[in-house]
Amino acid sequence: MKNLKKILAGSLFVGACLFMSNAAYAQKPAGKPWPATDAAVKKANPIKSDAGSIKEGKDLYAQHCKSCHGAKGKGDGSKAEKIDISCGDFTGPEIAKMTDGELFWKTTEGRKPMPSYKEKLSDSERWKVINYIRSL
Ligand code: HEC
Repeated sequence: MKNLKKILAGSLFVGACLFMSNAAYAQKPAGKPWPATDAAVKKANPIKSDAGSIKEGKDLYAQHCKSCHGAKGKGDGSKAEKIDISCGDFTGPEIAKMTDGELFWKTTEGRKPMPSYKEKLSDSERWKVINYIRSL
């Protein structure tokens, strides 16, 4: 009987630890505030958001962003697990409040561990990725 109690207590403890480590993963801390410049915030998106630009943006996103930001923009890509801060949630209210210009500027500049896309993608490619993010 004593042994049974020990086994039960032990498995409860292991269960609680697993539960807590999952919860910690789901709630990684956000990075430090990352304000864009005024000029960046005001910059208008020159690429019309239509089926064509969203489709191109989706392909570029799959190639360059999905590994961290996740298939649905929830910040749960395969690489996100190894990053200590949150990659953010593209479908959440914080991103909804940001202008296209602000998202474009952050994508252009990057901030470690997020890479810069200044050289990797052209201006129009980055705007198309923003159109796709807006469609999520
Ligand atoms: C290696 C992982 C990684 C990749 C790849 C990556 N990001 Fe990020 N991204 C991050 C992390 C981590 C943050 C949070 C950075 C911070 O707060 O300092 C972030 C933040 C952002 C933000 C700002 C979100 C906010 O809440 O301010 C935008 C916009 C963004 N990423 C867009 C993109 C786009 C578009 C791509 C692909 C072209 C991309 N990222 C690729 C890891 C990544």
